[in-house]
Amino acid sequence: MNFDRHRRMRRTAFMRDMVRETRVTKEDFIYPIFVVEADDVRKEVPSMKGVFQVSLNLLEEELEEVSRLGIKSVIFFGIPNEKDPEGTGAYHDHGVVQEACRISKRLHPDILVILDTCLCEYTDHGHCGLIDSETKDVDNDSTLPLLVQTAVSQAGAGADIIAPSNMMDGFVSEIRKGLDDNGFSHIPIMSYGIKYASKFYGPFRDAADSTPSFGDRRTYQMDPANRLEAQRELESDLEEGCDMMIVKPALSYLDIIRDVRNNSNVPVVAYNVSGEYSMTRTAIDMGLLDEEVIMEQMVSMKRAGADMIITYFAKDLCRMIDEGM
Ligand code: PBG
Ligand code: ZN
Repeated sequence: MNFDRHRRMRRTAFMRDMVRETRVTKEDFIYPIFVVEADDVRKEVPSMKGVFQVSLNLLEEELEEVSRLGIKSVIFFGIPNEKDPEGTGAYHDHGVVQEACRISKRLHPDILVILDTCLCEYTDHGHCGLIDSETKDVDNDSTLPLLVQTAVSQAGAGADIIAPSNMMDGFVSEIRKGLDDNGFSHIPIMSYGIKYASKFYGPFRDAADSTPSFGDRRTYQMDPANRLEAQRELESDLEEGCDMMIVKPALSYLDIIRDVRNNSNVPVVAYNVSGEYSMTRTAIDMGLLDEEVIMEQMVSMKRAGADMIITYFAKDLCRMIDEGM
C-alpha cells in the first residue's frame, strides 16, 4: 500500500495535543463591558443573553468576576445619561467610560483597559460623527477634532490602549498627533480601520443604545462585498501609525483576517461581534449545538491569523479553560 498515514499523529490525546498548531489562551481575550452612567442598573441585554449593562456604581462586582476568571483585558462601551448632536459625552473628562476606566484602574490596576473612540453612543442621532445639515451625511473633517478630544480624555483617564472605531478618514493620524501632543506618545492605537457595514452589529446597538435614528452607516463603514478595499484601509492605517489592526466582524470575514495577517506585521485583532455571539449563544441555549462550538470559533479566528479576540464569550471561555477544555 502506497499512501500517507495521517492518522499516525492523531492516535492519542497527547499526540494530538503535541502537534496542535493553534492554541487559545486567556491572554487572547478582550471582554466588552457596557457601562451605564445612571446608578443601580444591572440589566441583561435581551438580544444578548448572558451580557449585562452595568452601572458605574455596580462595576466593582463585575470587575471582580472578570478578574477572578482570569480575563486580562476589557473594553468599555458607555451608556450616558444625556445625548446631544455633538456627542459631547464622548469627550467629557468625567464621561461614563472615562469614569469606568478610573474605577477599573483603582480596583484592578492589572487589568488592561481599552477604550473605544467613537461618538455614536453619545450622539442623539446615533451616528459616529457630526451630521452635515445639507447632505444629512456624517461630515468627516469636522468630526476628527472631536475624536481627538475623545481619545485624549480617554488616555487622560488612564486607558492603556485607544481603539478608534468611527471609520472617518484620517482618524489614526489625527488621533496619533493629538495623543503625542498631549503627553501620550506611549499609548498605542488599536485601529478598527477594517470595519464592515454589518447586520451582525444589531444586538450591540440594543446594548449600547446606538442605533442610528435615520439612514445607515454605509457611507463610512465598508461594503461586505469588498476584499481589496480592506487592503487599502490597512495600508493607510499603517502609514498613519496604527499599532494594531482590528477586523470586524470576525467569523464571516476570516479571509480578511488572513489577508491582514499576511500583509502586515502588526498584531491582528478579531472582533467577534454581538450578532455572532447571539447566534451561537441561542443555538447552544436551544440545545442545537454543544458549548464546545465556542472554542472552535475562537480557534478558527486564531487559525485565520488573529492574535487577540474581542469576545462576549470571554467569561464562558475562561470557565471552559478552567474546566480543562
Ligand atoms: C460603533 C461600534 C459598533 C460596534 C462597536 N462599536 C458597531 C456599529 O454600531 O456600527 C459593534 C460591536 C458588536 O456588534 O459587537 N462605533
Ligand atoms: Zn460609532
